[in-house]
Amino acid sequence: MSTTKAADRAARAATRHAGAKVQLVFAGAFAALLALGLPFAAKAQQPIVIKFSHVTTPDTPKGKGAEKFKELAEKYTGGKVKVEVYPNSQLYKDKEEIEALQLAAVQMLAPSTAKFAPLGAKEFEALDLPFLFANDDEYTRISKGPVGQWLFQKLVPKGITGLAFWDNGFHMVSANRPLIAPADFQGLKFRISGSKIADQYFRLMGGLPQILAFSEVYQALQTGVVDGCENTPSNYLTQKFYEVQKHVSAANHAHLQYAVIVNTKFWTGLPADIRGQLDQAMNEATDYTNSIARKENEDAMAAIEGSGKTTIQVLTEPQRQAWKTKMMPAYDWAKGRVGKEVLDLLSKAMDTKTN
Ligand code: LMR
Repeated sequence: MSTTKAADRAARAATRHAGAKVQLVFAGAFAALLALGLPFAAKAQQPIVIKFSHVTTPDTPKGKGAEKFKELAEKYTGGKVKVEVYPNSQLYKDKEEIEALQLAAVQMLAPSTAKFAPLGAKEFEALDLPFLFANDDEYTRISKGPVGQWLFQKLVPKGITGLAFWDNGFHMVSANRPLIAPADFQGLKFRISGSKIADQYFRLMGGLPQILAFSEVYQALQTGVVDGCENTPSNYLTQKFYEVQKHVSAANHAHLQYAVIVNTKFWTGLPADIRGQLDQAMNEATDYTNSIARKENEDAMAAIEGSGKTTIQVLTEPQRQAWKTKMMPAYDWAKGRVGKEVLDLLSKAMDTKTN
């Protein structure tokens, strides 16, 4: 009997011990879950944040495009992605935003292609060649074709992914004296945004180009740091450049376009389904932006004229031709800057239009 009792006690003790062990293991597993699993679960409910920084105001083609992307991205991902748009150089100026993207302090930008040299991709400046595109449709066709794809390949080794090209129409050029003949440019200091091609065509016209950040242009014009600048009507209006420039000339001498870019590590790290939804949002936001650019610029031009603060001179065809003749050597010069390959691709793409 006593042997049986002892055996019972031993069996109960063994069961208790086993139970305690199970409890211990369970508690251990729970602690591990707390340490690892639960924070992951909580994290999974947090939206992925895309900080989209840019330098224009919200009421420009780019500003509206960024807002459209935000709306569609949040809708298509069912709120799993939150897009925070920071317009008007609020977070970073031109050069700083490129650095911020490389450091992943922001995830998305849409700089003008004139500003890609600091990224080590000066080939993008080919799109700044004077009198390159006949109209916005031609720009859209070229940027969506092999030239656009080739340019995006140049970003791959830089850890940057190109998602889309956006339109902002044609530059006008301004000063406090009328700019009609090339000789009118002589000796004037012009602000340019970064492209060496623009530097070149202003020099060919006799001007003295100087790079300044977009957010500094109004003050530079106002205080006479520079005498003039070039930009699109929507930028003249929303940055109020027209208030400090008496004469604006419209000759469609160069085009302003953006490339929407993301940090590759961030982009490829996204779940594939989310990336697909964001691609769809970007495609639709691109079509939207490109569809409003022309009208936005026409409206801006009318508003600037309506202000009575400046005169807009639309150049006649012979006047345009005189600018064109003067600026054409920029094409030859460009070979040493952007390389022959992109120039050949561009001329091939232009030709196919007429085939
Ligand atoms: C400029 O600096 O003039 C433009 O690139 C600004 C912009 O983004 O439209």
